[in-house]
Amino acid sequence: MASQNRSPLFCIQILCSIFHLLFFKTHQVFAQTSPVFACDADSNPGLANFTFCDPSSDVNTRVDDLVKRLTLQEKIGFLVSGAGEVSRLGIPKYEWWSEALHGVSYDGLGTHFSGVVPGATSFPQVILAAASFNVTLFEAIGKVVSTEARAMYNVGLTGLTFWSPNVNIFRDPRWGRGQETPGEDPLLSSKYGSAYVRGLQQRDDGDKDRLKVAACCKHYTAYDVDNWKGTDRYHFNAVVTQQDLDDTYQPPFKSCVVDGNVASVMCSYNQVNGKPTCGDPDLLTGVIRGEWKLRGYIVSDCDSLNEMYNSQHYTKTPEETAATAILAGLDLNCGSFLAKNTETAVKGGLVNESDIDRAISNNFATLMRLGFFDGDPSNQLYGKLGPNDVCTPKNQELARETARQGIVLLKNTAGSLPLSPNAIKSLAVIGPNAKATKTMIGNYEGNPCQYTTPLQGLTASVATVYQPGCANVACSSVQADDAKNIAALADAVVLVMGADQSIEAETLDRAGITLPGQQSILVSEVANVSKGPVILVVMSGGGMDVQFAKDDPKITSILWVGYPGEAGGAAIADVIFGFHNPGGRLPMTWYPQSYADNVPMTNMNMRPDPATGYPGRTYRFYTGPTVYTFGDGLSYSQFNHHLVQAPELISIPLEEGDVCRSLTCKSIDVDHSCNNLAVNIYVRVQNMGKMRGSDTIFLFFSPPSVHHAPQKQLLGFEKVFLTPQEEGIVGFSVDVCEHLSVVDEVGNRKVALGEHILHVGSLKHSLTIRI
Ligand SMILES: *[C@@H]1O[C@H](CO)[C@@H](O)[C@H](O)[C@H]1NC(C)=O
Ligand SMILES: *[C@@H]1O[C@H](CO)[C@@H](O)[C@H](O)[C@H]1NC(C)=O
Ligand SMILES: *[C@@H]1O[C@H](CO)[C@@H](O)[C@H](O)[C@H]1NC(C)=O
Ligand SMILES: *[C@@H]1O[C@H](CO)[C@@H](O)[C@H](O)[C@H]1NC(C)=O
Repeated sequence: MASQNRSPLFCIQILCSIFHLLFFKTHQVFAQTSPVFACDADSNPGLANFTFCDPSSDVNTRVDDLVKRLTLQEKIGFLVSGAGEVSRLGIPKYEWWSEALHGVSYDGLGTHFSGVVPGATSFPQVILAAASFNVTLFEAIGKVVSTEARAMYNVGLTGLTFWSPNVNIFRDPRWGRGQETPGEDPLLSSKYGSAYVRGLQQRDDGDKDRLKVAACCKHYTAYDVDNWKGTDRYHFNAVVTQQDLDDTYQPPFKSCVVDGNVASVMCSYNQVNGKPTCGDPDLLTGVIRGEWKLRGYIVSDCDSLNEMYNSQHYTKTPEETAATAILAGLDLNCGSFLAKNTETAVKGGLVNESDIDRAISNNFATLMRLGFFDGDPSNQLYGKLGPNDVCTPKNQELARETARQGIVLLKNTAGSLPLSPNAIKSLAVIGPNAKATKTMIGNYEGNPCQYTTPLQGLTASVATVYQPGCANVACSSVQADDAKNIAALADAVVLVMGADQSIEAETLDRAGITLPGQQSILVSEVANVSKGPVILVVMSGGGMDVQFAKDDPKITSILWVGYPGEAGGAAIADVIFGFHNPGGRLPMTWYPQSYADNVPMTNMNMRPDPATGYPGRTYRFYTGPTVYTFGDGLSYSQFNHHLVQAPELISIPLEEGDVCRSLTCKSIDVDHSCNNLAVNIYVRVQNMGKMRGSDTIFLFFSPPSVHHAPQKQLLGFEKVFLTPQEEGIVGFSVDVCEHLSVVDEVGNRKVALGEHILHVGSLKHSLTIRI
């Protein structure tokens, strides 16, 4: 989705609708206090007789009943995000497009804030939540967001269909939308996506047929170039190998559908191997519906079909575009392309009415599962939620807790952090993000309940003096003198630097990956004159080359705080003063600037290519220098790891006649012999420090080097919370087929034979797999 840089036609549509809202419906929007729903039998008793309005009938029966009552023109009205009304059947207009990436957002035409609900809880941007590596937390956030969404729906301020989360792999540090994602690792992205979806969708009564709200995993697939050196997402053809597709780009989407039961998948703007994703029957009907068995609808990005036709010239006529998308398996079009071009496509024989029936049936089924066709929602579960259930102290505390759990301590010279509030008589707070408000909530934001800026958070505990040092994050010139003056006199210095949406955003990829402008000069100069601890706080979505700060002994600590949400400043202070012991870990590699100088962002290959010097991407494949790497993160406590149990040998029983019984195989197919073969790994973790805190135990494996397998791959992670000296046992159940397999060059899963190295927390362990 975007609100910038789209085609002129669509801009006009958006502007018109905004104009329309502002000038014709202002009163109605702000005065609207009741939800939009169909089958309002209280005001129109005749509706009660329609099967599609009968909540006791099953969804398919209701959908069939509704579809057969509609004319072709009416049906076409349900193919687009601004869905039409059919008043003779008691169906009002419905806007499908709402967003809830990390809180209910005003992006999307379906959501408004008003005097009734002026704001909603604004959680940290996803990249920071992901850094918590806490799956329980991911789901808990989703649950709060869906409760606030239902409360806003009940007063007419939002819909029930949310196009979140974004589970694209953050494969290049420059990507402006990396902030929206759970990072670079397929397993973490899968766990985040499916847990957040469950939090949004699952009802408290356990009814799996029904949805609290409908989530949507996007942008399918191999997206993640927005606008880099003249290549934009509307024209980008992602050239992707089957191997990279299957072991990197697809797994989070698969997990959303298979593990999360997500109600929707959104196809992206870009092409994959020459075909626009929204017009590719293999990717949509074949994979999402066929292999993964999506129960729900496939929606296009806004306005992908227009881009397919006007930017990519993939199809010759608008009608052909409409037919291509619908026949590929698209059910809903964000925008109005299908409203305009489907009827002529049907008349021209390019697509049959039965295909339209399929598409709208998927859309209706989703709305039925949401209760949209059940009449007055005030009589249903969640019908009693209202404005008092939004921005509750408990919800806002979870936003603060999420930031605390996500913040990553990257450097901490002995004696630096935590600062003791009693010992600090004056704290110099410097930097263009020290007073950040909106910057803290990143993109796909809503109105927050309130903000606590970093300066406010720190000032709550100690006396502070403040200087911005630069006018803004672009920091084209430094005003170092005032900053140095306060730094030289203070007991400690906190520099709050980094980026904002002017540096990295949707439709804006970065060129450089150092701190923007002259920020690093400010940091070095201030550090040079400081007498006590100097804490560099990096607020950003993407990684930054802060090698200079890592190397500078005067800079005693580095914290990465993502975009930490509405309570970000409070959480930063909690960590700096030791009210919270940091336990976040980086969900993505931090590369040096040379990486951005040498690697074309448009190269989608994950694997290195020695022939061209292409270094590959992410901790799984890249072996070059890093500033920080995936999984990095310190604590104020040291945790010791001790292996309690781990297998040294796994023998896979091969069936009679298996070729690998006679030939020497380097790997075997996962389909048969390793099924249900599981082993347990236990590790004892002890908190050796003086502070309670959490430790994340990663389980990686390094397979033998066959099939261009990753050098290292995460197969599990567990987080434990331990008081000082406390011990805990962390267990992993490892399924040989599922967890220890790799994807071969043509997309088949294989278990490599030979020595695997398991990385269990800080330990290494050798495991041999043989037949
Ligand atoms: C609904 O159906 C019942 C019985 O089939 C009929 O008596 C009644 O008149 C119908 N109500 C309306 C409003 O059409
Ligand atoms: C439409 O349906 C007819 C009859 O079943 C079939 O022959 C034709 O191939 C269909 N057209 C498309 C575009 O699927
Ligand atoms: C640090 O201070 C010394 C003198 O106090 C000066 O010579 C040097 O240039 C300074 N370095 C930086 C990076 O400001
Ligand atoms: C994970 O998050 C939940 C919810 O905030 C929290 O209760 C739990 O303690 C966290 N787990 C760990 C190990 O920190």
